Amino acid sequence: MSANGPDMAADFTIEQDWQGYREEDHAVWRLLFERQQKLLIGRACDEYLDGLGALGVAAGGIPDFRRLSDVLEHTTGWRIVAVPGLVPDAVFFAHLSRRRFPSTCFIRRRDQLDYLQEPDVFHDICGHLPLLMNPVFADYMQAYGEGGLKAQGLGHLRRLARLYWYTVEFGLIATPAGLRIYGSGILSSAGESVYCLDDPRPLRLGFDLRRVMRTRYRIDRFQESYFVIDDFAQLFAATRPDFTPIYREIAALPDIEPDTMLGCDCRCAVAAEGKKMGRSKSAAQV
Ligand SMILES: [Fe+2]
Repeated sequence: MSANGPDMAADFTIEQDWQGYREEDHAVWRLLFERQQKLLIGRACDEYLDGLGALGVAAGGIPDFRRLSDVLEHTTGWRIVAVPGLVPDAVFFAHLSRRRFPSTCFIRRRDQLDYLQEPDVFHDICGHLPLLMNPVFADYMQAYGEGGLKAQGLGHLRRLARLYWYTVEFGLIATPAGLRIYGSGILSSAGESVYCLDDPRPLRLGFDLRRVMRTRYRIDRFQESYFVIDDFAQLFAATRPDFTPIYREIAALPDIEPDTMLGCDCRCAVAAEGKKMGRSKSAAQV
């Protein structure tokens, strides 16, 4: 340990120091985990719940990253790397492109159960890790890292960041049983897990790559728009093309506010209405 905290490598990685967690840290994890498990049955997508179970992430306490990494690596080739907090974009993308997921180690305090501006270990592990057990989503995350490095060079990071926000962090997925959550920002939030599916106010729109990249977002409140994918294969296929001409195309178009619906948007029904989820177009032209 250095005077400034854990010894940090050039790629911003540190040791998790699992032995250093206090009983209070594990108790906060248990509170968060048990609360989310009650909420997420019937709300989280099956891929998430399957991944959570297969990883063995449970209420017992903050997991040891090495144990989780061994399971994850065996399944999809990913590993967790511990980091002290948010890392520079280039470092984050480089880790993802090498199938290494950067996770913070600290856990929020008991008086911060409902809101924390920065990701903590509960968000990173319980929110992000289970879907990295899914082979298609695991490939999507690696491709995102490669795309991030490229977008930085092209000066379009702002637009690519919106893709991460509206998929990895706040994505919804259509299933025959109704809309389900796959975004980690929702999965680790008790309030937004309910709001995103039950509240009539937010827009729930069919995923469209260009639309997503043009849509601003707010980090200090529940989302005003969610984008709904049909499945992870659709997401991966939609984001596979070279983004260079797409960035050029949308750079000429205005950004879209998160509470705005366009005439070309497809609105998704929350309740199941058959396999196609009852999408309907808005009559409003903006
Ligand atoms: Fe996150």
